[in-house]
Amino acid sequence: MIVSQNLTKRYGEKTVVDDLSFTVRPGVVTGFLGPNGAGKSTTMRMLVGLDRPTRGEITIGGRRYQDLSDPVRHLGVMLDARSANPGRTALDHLLVVGETHGIGRPRAHEVLEMVGIGAVADKRAGGFSLGMSQRLGIATALIGDPATLVLDEPVNGLDPTGCSGSGTFSCDSP
Ligand SMILES: Nc1ncnc2c1ncn2[C@@H]1O[C@H](COP(=O)(O)OP(=O)(O)O)[C@@H](O)[C@H]1O
Ligand SMILES: [Mg+2]
Repeated sequence: MIVSQNLTKRYGEKTVVDDLSFTVRPGVVTGFLGPNGAGKSTTMRMLVGLDRPTRGEITIGGRRYQDLSDPVRHLGVMLDARSANPGRTALDHLLVVGETHGIGRPRAHEVLEMVGIGAVADKRAGGFSLGMSQRLGIATALIGDPATLVLDEPVNGLDPTGCSGSGTFSCDSP
């Protein structure tokens, strides 16, 4: 359960999230909709402790994200598909994320296959298309088999197939 209570964020004089209260129940897919600049990404950044609320709080299962002992098992997050180190391969990126949680190669390969980019496991993220980066971001969110997934603009750049099949998607260029 994600609970936001009176969540408020101000940057200087500008209020970008204004007294926002809501509950996201477990077991349901919940959309978070609003026009560009409405404060959706800022809210999600506050959820994972990347931004500090000016007022109010947002918690997962009653705790702040930064207080969770094994966060990737509670909450899988993709806020920015291009956040992987461009010099790292897809596989190495996942191994780095999994390292602190004792998650190793078998799970990293599994999530790469799940999102359809198993064929580029050993290619550097910096050479990925937007869609391939998006798939790597989703794989990263899935790595800990978390109870809850939070995805910011999850379908950006996604084409119908990934890279592991025999489709026309360019997988050997990076
Ligand atoms: N670090 C920041 N400093 C100042 N303003 C910011 C910062 N981050 C976001 N904003 C502003 O907050 C508002 C909400 O942005 P954002 O949360 O990205 O909206 P959304 O994801 O709904 O499109 C925008 O007006 C944006 O310019
Ligand atoms: Mg946004």
